[in-house]
Amino acid sequence: MIRPLLGWSLPRVFAHRCGGALAPENTLAGLRFAAQTGCRAVEFDVMLSADGSPWLIHDETLERTTDGCGRVCEMRDVDLARLDAGARQSGAFAGTPLPTLKAAAALCHELGLMANVEIKPANGFEAITGEVVAQQVLELWRDRPLPLVSSFSETSLLAARRMAPGLPLGALWERPPADWRQRVDALGAFSLHCAARALSDGLLDEARAAGIPVLCYTVNDPLDAETLFLRGVTAVFSDRIDLLS
Ligand code: G3P
Ligand code: MG
Repeated sequence: MIRPLLGWSLPRVFAHRCGGALAPENTLAGLRFAAQTGCRAVEFDVMLSADGSPWLIHDETLERTTDGCGRVCEMRDVDLARLDAGARQSGAFAGTPLPTLKAAAALCHELGLMANVEIKPANGFEAITGEVVAQQVLELWRDRPLPLVSSFSETSLLAARRMAPGLPLGALWERPPADWRQRVDALGAFSLHCAARALSDGLLDEARAAGIPVLCYTVNDPLDAETLFLRGVTAVFSDRIDLLS
């Protein structure tokens, strides 16, 4: 399996869910906050609507982060476009819309942000979400260095790989399985992403020997981040980019 490489160098810190905890998650306001804070790279989550369009949102349901209710995969684009994705965070962000992947990509280009697009499929939509996100990423980042595309779903990643053989992929697990190396190879993944608490020195040694960058989430304490970098972690996803950037 070929292993497409990233066309940009990984920074140490990715703003988690666009702008971390200090802006509404998965919004354009978060992207602007990340850029203002000095971040070079952001991570965000992408899910399909009932119309099959990719939108930035983490949960399968709307209630936690927006003023809507119900399942994202059952909502039409026209209804998602009307939602407020900022007021749950704070009144200061009221009126912040839920962004499409297209809008997020355009703002990343404008602000000079590199991206980790996390495919976040609703249950049962793993393959189609991987295909659509991969296809849109190729189109939206045409003539630019491609973003890193990751997912907890290997089905989504395999579908993305079929659709876009040259796409750099990140294999993402909360806790990497014992056979992570074979799975990374089978996907042709560029990097391994996991929870910081799941890291072992054995895994870091094996990844280093194989030239596989390890990225971990969610790291909010600068001392924890420094310790992880010393152990061999390449980059962290953080909600406190004000402290880590
Ligand atoms: O991609 C890293 C991290 O975002 C994975 O966790 O649940 O915040 O998407 P989650
Ligand atoms: Mg994520």
